[in-house]
Amino acid sequence: MPPQVSNGGASQIGPSVQLCNGSGLRSSPKHGGTATRRMKYHGKKLLPVLVLILSCLSILRLLKIAMIASHSSSSFQSNAPSTVALEADRRVKTSTASALTPKEFMLLSKIITRKAPCNLLVFGHHSQYFDLSSINARGITVFLDDDPRKKIEIKADSNGTRVYNVEYRTPAKEAYDLLKHARGNPACSPAVNLINQSSCKLALRNLPEEIYKLKWDLVVVDGPTGDSPDAQGRMSTINTAGMLARGTGETTDVVVHDVDRTIEKWFSWEFLCQQNLVSAKGKLWDFRIAADQSNSTSFCSSETLHVMP
Ligand SMILES: *[C@@H]1O[C@H](CO)[C@@H](O)[C@H](O)[C@H]1NC(C)=O
Ligand SMILES: *[C@@H]1O[C@H](CO)[C@@H](O)[C@H](O)[C@H]1NC(C)=O
Ligand SMILES: *[C@@H]1O[C@H](CO)[C@@H](O)[C@H](O)[C@H]1NC(C)=O
Repeated sequence: MPPQVSNGGASQIGPSVQLCNGSGLRSSPKHGGTATRRMKYHGKKLLPVLVLILSCLSILRLLKIAMIASHSSSSFQSNAPSTVALEADRRVKTSTASALTPKEFMLLSKIITRKAPCNLLVFGHHSQYFDLSSINARGITVFLDDDPRKKIEIKADSNGTRVYNVEYRTPAKEAYDLLKHARGNPACSPAVNLINQSSCKLALRNLPEEIYKLKWDLVVVDGPTGDSPDAQGRMSTINTAGMLARGTGETTDVVVHDVDRTIEKWFSWEFLCQQNLVSAKGKLWDFRIAADQSNSTSFCSSETLHVMP
């Protein structure tokens, strides 16, 4: 799960978010004026030692996460970062979006081949994806992209493939606040069925109408770029992909790319859930949202909220 302390309570997400946000935990002298003063009563030596220990801990955590993430097809459970690690993570992880590696490409083409002809929705629009849409030649492939220049690339004769330009309004730096908003807001519940009328800040309401009407067999999230705090992030595309998948009443796969980055990881865990992860290669995760989750009132079953760091 995303920002989450293992306090053992499924219903305790709210407070744990507060904790992440709160000062004092990382005991930086800059922010913790009162804390620092109080510390002085307990001996001046304590503070540097504490800072050192906490720093070491977060570095160790980050190393551990990095190591586990590179073997992400194995034990997924132990992947949950602690509050301390997430604090550090928040500042470091918005690296550039990468192209699909050969292995990732292979996994994705395997998934599409298995389903084709199917309804395939792709958030993002790298040239690599054209090869994937040709696998689905007799199906419908829709690309949504926020870069108007890319529309030119599309071949006019390709039947069921179309590219729409869309506009996103959630910069990566708002990820943390949006996650809090989503957790505390009934409008963001998976039970809401009209995404285009939702008041959840994560819901993409202005997509072309066919996006809401078609039953998608596979949704790929590889856009927008989300490669700097001010760039548009993937919070709403991951959330909307999860909502669309749950709305089909059938089994729908959601594939997320660049899951080495914090936002992709957090939001996948939050809205697509560890228990749905069926395969992974490199920075690509494949979640399978089963039909019986269509009526569910929470995104993830409560067991997964108990993840130990
Ligand atoms: C267009 O779709 C039809 C069937 O729907 C198919 O037979 C034909 O090969 C497709 N053409 C292209 C260029 O993909
Ligand atoms: C929302 O989407 C549904 C299709 O799922 C459509 O019937 C309805 O008209 C849309 N509403 C708006 C306000 O666009
Ligand atoms: C969802 O709920 C509706 C009515 O509440 C029911 O008819 C339907 O069978 C349920 N679907 C699933 C997949 O459980």
